[in-house]
Amino acid sequence: MNDPNGLVWHKGEYHLFFQHNPLGREWGHMSWGHAVSTDLLNWEELPVAIREGEDGAIFSGSAVSIGDEIVAIYTRDKDKIQVQCIATSFDNGRTFTKFEDNPVLDLGMEHFRDPKVFRYQDHWIMAVVKAQEFLVCFYKSEDLKTWTPLSEFGRVGATGGQWECPDLFPLKIDGEEVWVLLVSLSPGGIKNTSGTQYFIGDFDGTTFTPRYSTDKPRWFDYGSHNYAGVTFNNEPNNKRIFMGWLNSWQKKEHAETSWTGAMTIPRELGLTRLNGEIVITQQPICQSVYELKVQVPGSGIVGLKGFVTLGYNVDTQTIFVDDYEAPYQVKDGELHIKVVVDQSSVELFTADGTRCITLAVFPPLGTSRVLTPF
Ligand code: FRU
Repeated sequence: MNDPNGLVWHKGEYHLFFQHNPLGREWGHMSWGHAVSTDLLNWEELPVAIREGEDGAIFSGSAVSIGDEIVAIYTRDKDKIQVQCIATSFDNGRTFTKFEDNPVLDLGMEHFRDPKVFRYQDHWIMAVVKAQEFLVCFYKSEDLKTWTPLSEFGRVGATGGQWECPDLFPLKIDGEEVWVLLVSLSPGGIKNTSGTQYFIGDFDGTTFTPRYSTDKPRWFDYGSHNYAGVTFNNEPNNKRIFMGWLNSWQKKEHAETSWTGAMTIPRELGLTRLNGEIVITQQPICQSVYELKVQVPGSGIVGLKGFVTLGYNVDTQTIFVDDYEAPYQVKDGELHIKVVVDQSSVELFTADGTRCITLAVFPPLGTSRVLTPF
């Protein structure tokens, strides 16, 4: 699997569609795999929801819930042309019918993809990338079928590789609405791998305007394995929940294992203030986390060790997992972190949610996943 697609809550279920090859273990024949959950913790995998067809492969996109319908908005890729298409489901996402007048948005471009559509006032907005021009393009529609261009934002922050999988959404801080634009890029992220940056700003229905300097990127994650992540539409509790692809394009196959990719733990996003700026926060939605709350020493490192070593380096003021690190200042000399561990992954969060490091890890067979304080 790769990217999460069509994240939407619809009639009691969270839907996770995902980039998937129904015919093999390597990337190809892209289609939308499907899993559902009622609690974001337990997932049931269902048959492939939207298959590659004669007309092309089904690349990344989003989904919206309209009454009894789920409408998927995805990129169709064929013969080096990428266009935006829609498909409709009346059976809670189990099967989809492609719209007969697809595509709904066609610029005749090779790298134009990953539409994220959301409701804005009385209409729909789409954020979609011109990947190799490092641009997020915004469009407007009344019916998901006719799209009018609004504005473009880009060529700022990190512009390595290609820009992919944008997401734009509002969050509140102290009663004020602030807009967050997520943009994945690959390579050009941490350690020049696949990464996700974010911009804090304002959206007036036409234009996204960043609030702060865009000279340097603000990283959403300081690991190498949280890519193409987007948030759920129609979340019933009005929360902003994110999932990313827990892998990178730079080393996505691990021949020594049967692993074919995973998603990050779902994370609830929020905002806080740090060093005079509004920043994003992430809290893992997970029942079993390691939680460590310790006074930090005068110098050196403190944390958890086992199949990875992670924690806080007092001298460099960074949280770290093995050789990955993120700048962080502890408050009142106390380190408070949460760590989610799975067979092939580790996700470290500071308890205030301002920093995280996500990594895929493949310890030798039989290695314990237990971590102990040091
Ligand atoms: C991101 C991405 C998307 C594309 C999909 C293809 O990982 O490259 O831009 O739609 O994967 O599988």
